Amino acid sequence: MSKLAFRVSYLRRSRELYRRYLESKPWLPQLYTTFLNIRPGQRIVDVGCGPGDFTRHLARLSNQKATVLGIDANEKSIQAATIDTEKARLSQSVSYRLGDVYKIPLQDGYADLTCCRTLLMHLTEPLKAVKEMARITKTGGSVAALEGGKMGAFYDPEDPDYSRLAERAEEAWIDGVRILEGKEFRIGEKLPGIFKKAGLSEIKAEVQADAWLHSDPRRRLTDVKAELRFDYSIFKERRRKDRKYLLAGGMSNAQITSYFNRLEARTEEFLSNDVKLRNDPSFYAATFFLVSGVKKG
Ligand SMILES: C[S@@+](CC[C@H](N)C(=O)[O-])C[C@H]1O[C@@H](n2cnc3c(N)ncnc32)[C@H](O)[C@@H]1O
Repeated sequence: MSKLAFRVSYLRRSRELYRRYLESKPWLPQLYTTFLNIRPGQRIVDVGCGPGDFTRHLARLSNQKATVLGIDANEKSIQAATIDTEKARLSQSVSYRLGDVYKIPLQDGYADLTCCRTLLMHLTEPLKAVKEMARITKTGGSVAALEGGKMGAFYDPEDPDYSRLAERAEEAWIDGVRILEGKEFRIGEKLPGIFKKAGLSEIKAEVQADAWLHSDPRRRLTDVKAELRFDYSIFKERRRKDRKYLLAGGMSNAQITSYFNRLEARTEEFLSNDVKLRNDPSFYAATFFLVSGVKKG
């Protein structure tokens, strides 16, 4: 299988894994519906919608009683989103349009709710984007962003030394991306400040915390291994691409090589030993921030 075909098949599979993950956490749809205050008859805009997974999720959360418009700057994503939405029989309430978040092709005050998921983390000017999202939102309507935060953890009680190294690498990588590309990859904690600067009021937040344990029986062994296998398949590329960020973030070449070697060795060991994998006590946690604000007149 070519590299591209492998990635496409992995992405399809990871969406299926995510669907199963949502099923195992029935409180998440409730969190989203109440936090975003989704109601029948609303006009919802999802900016940076990509292939439309979250756009369709919003339509389902509203029981298809809201009109949802996905916008993305990538034409291929818009095409994929449209096809998948037809397949999901959601085209009556969901549509898509090509557009840039810095210049959204909609009139002032169009939406009751304008939101984005994992978009601001990729932008060099997130404040400008949130201001533009506020422009297309009605007075009294809401702007919301769902983005990853810094709050997280990795701890292997059987290898505290590696745990420290992995945490250091995560921190260095985030710093490196900021220094080299001007992007805040874990932007979650900064969202309330950005929303305030964009002129939004009544800012509120929730944190969705996710924990991953290789031993978790709710996760199928085949799913756990599929994720590890994907990580393993992109190691070479990561070693090449990530080194510059880790260096810019303050790690030495020797530390980086040690981190990569140990990560690769751990993954190889887990992939070759199901018993070890299913008894791994390492704790992985990541957070996703939900932040919203109201547009006042
Ligand atoms: C990580 S994806 C998130 C996709 C989707 N929101 C989700 O959660 O599945 C980020 C998306 O933002 C889009 N994007 C990046 N810069 C953009 C811009 N300036 N205007 C509109 N979309 C943009 C990319 O094309 C990509 O589809």
